[in-house]
Amino acid sequence: MYRNPLVQKHIKELKKLGTDFIGPATGSLACGDEGEGRMVEVPEIIEAAVTTLTPKDLSDQNMLVTAGPTREAIDPVRFISNRSSGKMGFAIALAALRRGAKVTLVSGPSSESPPEGALFVPVESASEMEAAVIKHLPKSTSVIMSAAVSDFRPSGNHKVKLKKEDIRSLKLIKNNDILRKVGSKKGKRALVGFAAESGRNIENAKQKLKKKYLDLIVLNDISEAGAGFDVDTNIVTIIDKKGKTSDYPKMKKIEIANVILDRMLDV
Ligand code: CTP
Repeated sequence: MYRNPLVQKHIKELKKLGTDFIGPATGSLACGDEGEGRMVEVPEIIEAAVTTLTPKDLSDQNMLVTAGPTREAIDPVRFISNRSSGKMGFAIALAALRRGAKVTLVSGPSSESPPEGALFVPVESASEMEAAVIKHLPKSTSVIMSAAVSDFRPSGNHKVKLKKEDIRSLKLIKNNDILRKVGSKKGKRALVGFAAESGRNIENAKQKLKKKYLDLIVLNDISEAGAGFDVDTNIVTIIDKKGKTSDYPKMKKIEIANVILDRMLDV
C-alpha cells in the first residue's frame, strides 16, 4: 500500500504543508509481503512526538557528555570497575537532544541504548575516556561529566591471563582526573561535574567544584534509597560557583537531566 502512487502523492502534498512523518519502517507487512510500509515501533513514535513537541532552547549548544563506569584491565579476563549503569549520563544526552542540542556521548560499558541522534563514542578505560574527551572538547560549547571514572588502574602488562597463584596483590597507578583537565582548559564553556558521595557531603562537593574549575556540581548521595547507581531515580543537590545550594526531591533521572540543563543555561 505504501508504494501506491496515490498514497505517495498524498504524502508529498502533506510534506509540502510542513507535516512531519515518522517512518515507515521496513519488514513484514500486514498483507504478508516484506518491504517498506510497516508501522514504526510505538516507543519510537512516542520519542519522535516528544522531541517534536519539546522547545529547542539548546539548539545553539554542542554538548559533550560522559557517562557510565570505566573498566581497568588486570589482564584480558579481569578488570576493576564500579557500579555505575550510565543511566544518568544517557538521560542527560537524551534530554539535551530533545531540546535541540548536538550531543557527543562518551560512555564506558553500559547496557543502556545510546539515544538516537547522538554521536556515540564507546570507551572502556579511563585513559580511553580521557583521549575521547580531549578529542571532542574543541568543538563543544558545554560539557557535563557524569561518568564514574575509575581513579586507579592496575600496573603491568594486561595482555596475558594471570595465574591466580601469581596474584598476591595489585599495584595500582592513579588515573588522570579528566574533569580537572577539562576544567583547566574550559574557556567559555559551561562545565558541570558530579560528586558521588556517601552522605549529603556539601563540603566535599564544594571542594570538587573549586578544584575542577566547575560552574555547577551535582551532588549525588549514593547511600540514599532511590539515588545513585543503577536505579531510574536520583536525589541530587546542585551547587553553583557562588555556593548557592539547591536540594531536589527524588525524581526520575530524565527529569533531573532537564533540571541540570535548565541550571546550566543560567550559569
Ligand atoms: N572524574 C573524572 N576523572 C577522574 C575522576 C573523576 O573526570 N579520574 C569526574 C567525574 O566524572 C565526576 C567528578 O570528577 O564528574 C567527581 O567524581 P567523584 O568520583 O565524585 O570524585 P573524585 O574526584 O574521583 O574523588 P573521590 O572519589 O575521592 O570522592
